[in-house]
Amino acid sequence: MNGQEQNQRGHWGSKIAFIFAATGSAIGLGNIWRFPMVVGKYGGAVFVFVYILAVVLIGFTVMLAEMIIGRHTQRNAIGAFEHIKPRKPWKIIGFLGLLTSICILSYYSVIAGWAAGYFVKTASGTFRGAITSQMSDQIYTNFVSNPLLALICFFVVIGITTLIISKGVQSGIERWTKILMPVLFILIIYLAIKALTLPGASEGLSFYLKPDFSKLNGTVVLFAFGQAFFSLSIGMGIMITYGSYIHKSDNLVTSAGWVSFADTLIAFLAGLIIFPTLFAIPGIAPTAGPGLVFKVFPLIFSKIPNGHFFGMLFFTLLLVAAITSTISLLEVSVAYFIDERSWSRKKAAFLLGGFAFLLGIPSALSSGGMKFFTDIDFMGKFDIIFANISLAVGALLICIFVGWIWGIKKPVEEVRSGNPRFRIRPLWVFSLKFLSPVVLIIILIFIKKIITG
Ligand code: PHE
Repeated sequence: MNGQEQNQRGHWGSKIAFIFAATGSAIGLGNIWRFPMVVGKYGGAVFVFVYILAVVLIGFTVMLAEMIIGRHTQRNAIGAFEHIKPRKPWKIIGFLGLLTSICILSYYSVIAGWAAGYFVKTASGTFRGAITSQMSDQIYTNFVSNPLLALICFFVVIGITTLIISKGVQSGIERWTKILMPVLFILIIYLAIKALTLPGASEGLSFYLKPDFSKLNGTVVLFAFGQAFFSLSIGMGIMITYGSYIHKSDNLVTSAGWVSFADTLIAFLAGLIIFPTLFAIPGIAPTAGPGLVFKVFPLIFSKIPNGHFFGMLFFTLLLVAAITSTISLLEVSVAYFIDERSWSRKKAAFLLGGFAFLLGIPSALSSGGMKFFTDIDFMGKFDIIFANISLAVGALLICIFVGWIWGIKKPVEEVRSGNPRFRIRPLWVFSLKFLSPVVLIIILIFIKKIITG
């Protein structure tokens, strides 16, 4: 790539802008919708325990490795591998990431569409007054099983994402995340305090935080790792793409550390809202699946002063958090087609956005909209294949590539250009070369057994 092309790709205005964008990618439905859903489904506190281990021991390692590849090569997720090991098959990792990101984008945007729909519902007064869990359950079911509504909401989200991406990385991503992420954070803390002070909240708290280790099994581990990769946006080259816009003088270790920490914190706080509320206002099971969050949040809004206002604010921010993630999902492949296939940014954004829309139609119709897709649980299957299996494979290959194939000297030098001491080097290298690959291989070997129960 020549210098001119690099300029067209843009650089983050500052380190903080990069951190906001990467955090914007990481924080989204994964934290607020998916995390409580899998915690509820797979054992509560014990899942939270394994999840935190997965983030600290392996997620952080992979995130730093991706940022290193990105900044070193200043390229997209495929070009980066080709640059380091030309004419070798390693760029398959990038192609796998590209495929995964478009597939995740397709159903992720469906859920983001639900957030948009719930905003409209809240604004139009559906949740005014006392809401029971049965009512909330019914409202959700009616909403998601309406095929036209599901498709329209989905289309709106893909449309917004495509427009933002077609305008380019800086103006598109930076502006949004800087203002709205902090507001989301404050709102979530406020709601967590409210949920924790509901009468009867303590039972939910112990479900969420008191681990019962007899529930620990392969399924818990598989889904906890999948959730960690999904939530941190790693294993598919997003942090390679974003890292390619970081300046050489920035400290990658603190960047990766901050993104992982902020992401985990928001997920943790989301759980502190959901589980106390769920147990304080009985009627919805923790195992409710994709509807969990949409059924439970209206309950808490009906219990707090000005709940109507907070409900609208919440669904707006959830949508924004989702869109800062969808733009990162689309940017992976758009960056590839701009750099390597010389497409214009507009063409890449519209063609790939359109493709993701077509691909997502079965997911949009799989919650009751169309019997065939509902029966085979299309969205659930897609989610397992891409969020759990594909991200784990991607993460494994990235560890092997950086730890063994590239040779550890160059990556370490890359970190040192912005962090001369790199104090955690021995720990990171150990995790990268040994711990992470071994754990991931074990998970992948057992995957079939785990999924079929
Ligand atoms: N990490 C995002 C979230 O938690 C989702 C996402 C997954 C974004 C994978 C990019 C890549 O919502």
